[in-house]
Amino acid sequence: MLTSPTIGLYIHFPWCTRKCPYCDFNSHAVSGQIPETAYIQQLLQDLDQDLVLLDDNPTVTSIFLGGGTPSLFQPAAINTLLISIQQRLKLDPRVEITLEANPGTTDYAKFSGYVQAGVNRLSMGVQSFNDIQLKALGRIHSAAEASRAFAAARAAGFENINIDLMHGLPGQTFSAAMQDLEQGLNLEPEHLSWYQLTIEPNTGFYRYPPTLPDDDALWSIYSEGLVRLKARGFERYEISAFAKDARLSAHNLNYWRFGNYLGIGAGAHGKLSSDGQLLRTTKTRVPADYLKAPNRRSSPIADASLQLEFLMNSLRLTAGFDWATYEANTGLDRAGLNRFVTQGQAKGLLNLTSEGLQPTTRGLQFLNDLLLMVD
Ligand SMILES: C[S@@+](CC[C@H](N)C(=O)[O-])C[C@H]1O[C@@H](n2cnc3c(N)ncnc32)[C@H](O)[C@@H]1O
Ligand code: SF4
Repeated sequence: MLTSPTIGLYIHFPWCTRKCPYCDFNSHAVSGQIPETAYIQQLLQDLDQDLVLLDDNPTVTSIFLGGGTPSLFQPAAINTLLISIQQRLKLDPRVEITLEANPGTTDYAKFSGYVQAGVNRLSMGVQSFNDIQLKALGRIHSAAEASRAFAAARAAGFENINIDLMHGLPGQTFSAAMQDLEQGLNLEPEHLSWYQLTIEPNTGFYRYPPTLPDDDALWSIYSEGLVRLKARGFERYEISAFAKDARLSAHNLNYWRFGNYLGIGAGAHGKLSSDGQLLRTTKTRVPADYLKAPNRRSSPIADASLQLEFLMNSLRLTAGFDWATYEANTGLDRAGLNRFVTQGQAKGLLNLTSEGLQPTTRGLQFLNDLLLMVD
């Protein structure tokens, strides 16, 4: 039976001050007041409905308050939510509790309130330190405001901070991308997520495509960026994730290892084991509908897709995975991957390690090609 002694908890907050033109997350520009109390109540009802599904009574090792913009919520609401979660679930004494913050929505008092509520990791969406670029990205903050927000978060007691930066931005030159990265590094965060901008369907940028750097420029930005991150002590542990002093994101690592997680909130996804089966869960997506009823849809993950889903996640990690994790999280035998391993090795995309499988540098870069080799 596929049971799991530990689990992550994702909580989605679907509102933002304004919708950014590159973003395809389930996030909606807020009009008027956010119904904070009603939303927190629905989150708890949603959680209660999921808890009856669980086979076991797992320990929660990470909670991620993501969005949207959770930092639009007042600390008192986050406090109520976290207390109510503790009344329902066993939390690991070292549980990682991350909150995503948009620098245009925060100040010292708010950060301090989040710390007091038990949030111990902050993930700040900065994207760029260039004011013209920030405008083009539809951001509600300037570069100086982002730096000030970072300092306020530190002063309020956050000892574990991630910064989200994007590169390959509209009209971005190599030196502008490097300046962004250097400014991010100068703030000395513990973690940096460095994403290449992708143009997603159903976004403003998809409808009105901006001019992006060409492939040569993108390659120069990417390869030099990796060198600089490494030189500043950041270990790349996933395609876009870099950590200093082993401050990896426990919550995201659990996704990448294909671990189980509860997903509550508008449009949230979860993966859990119920009646000995792995289930995917999704919740009502539109916030106004969710506020009426946080309905859950669930479907078993077919055996045929388990292998691919596991590899899609685990091969994003520079360390790859070990066979014990593969067997524990899929319930499958490693022998089923023999052909994939042989082919991947032959193409120089995979390395067999003493305990498992690891993508080569080329394999990380051409992950989609590698995954096409899965039966
Ligand atoms: C859900 S957002 C979280 C933070 C918060 N809402 C904010 O934007 O400040 C997560 C991160 O995904 C990244 N992201 C969003 N859309 C992207 C895209 N189209 N391409 C690359 N990265 C993207 C951004 O760096 C963003 O900070
Ligand atoms: S990038 Fe962040 S702030 Fe912008 S719309 Fe998406 S979730 Fe909201």
